[in-house]
Amino acid sequence: MERIICLLIGYACGLFQTAYIMGKIYHTDIRKQGSGNLGSTNVMRTLGKKAGALNLLCDCLKCVAAILIVRALFGDRYAEILPLLSLYAAAGCILGHNFPFYLNFKGGKGIAASVGLLAAFDWRLLLICAVVFFTLFFTTHYVSLCSISAYVTAFILMVVFGQRGDYHMDQSHMLELYVVMAFLTVLALFRHKKNIQRLLDGTESQIYLGKKKKN
Ligand code: G3P
Repeated sequence: MERIICLLIGYACGLFQTAYIMGKIYHTDIRKQGSGNLGSTNVMRTLGKKAGALNLLCDCLKCVAAILIVRALFGDRYAEILPLLSLYAAAGCILGHNFPFYLNFKGGKGIAASVGLLAAFDWRLLLICAVVFFTLFFTTHYVSLCSISAYVTAFILMVVFGQRGDYHMDQSHMLELYVVMAFLTVLALFRHKKNIQRLLDGTESQIYLGKKKKN
């Protein structure tokens, strides 16, 4: 039951669809611009770097908030499985972000919310994934490629750190943790299927932070 509550708390937090709200503020529909995705990259494409950064921060913080609420609610009673419950909260948040009921379940891809997951779950994952992300970004400028590579890295690292005993849970709960993270990784890949097709076709758009910005 506590897992469902964590998912629901996360889903409620994920419903704060920053890109959609930003579009409302700037009198545009982000869903009809650029890639059509309700996410930071497309906000940056459409409204500029500052708006993109703000979007990233807000989407990231809503996942941190979901995890903090769950920790405050269940921290004492379920201390031994708190990393798992935190992941359920993050999964709920990503589902709320990707599939908001009030937008006909058409939201974003959950990458910024996943940054929040890593920040609140294990900062070492965030650090290593950030290195992977930015190394790829500054060599290819394909945000989608960076996102999915960082996601797969996060999953592998979570398993590696988990097997070392870093999350202090018994083996059955660790297995459950890996299954939830594997689900999130597959979901991220699935949400990027059009990007992956464009990457294969050589038609994926690139993002440049400096003057050489394309598209
Ligand atoms: O976070 C989403 C990013 O990986 C790709 O976004 O707009 O290029 O599909 P977009």
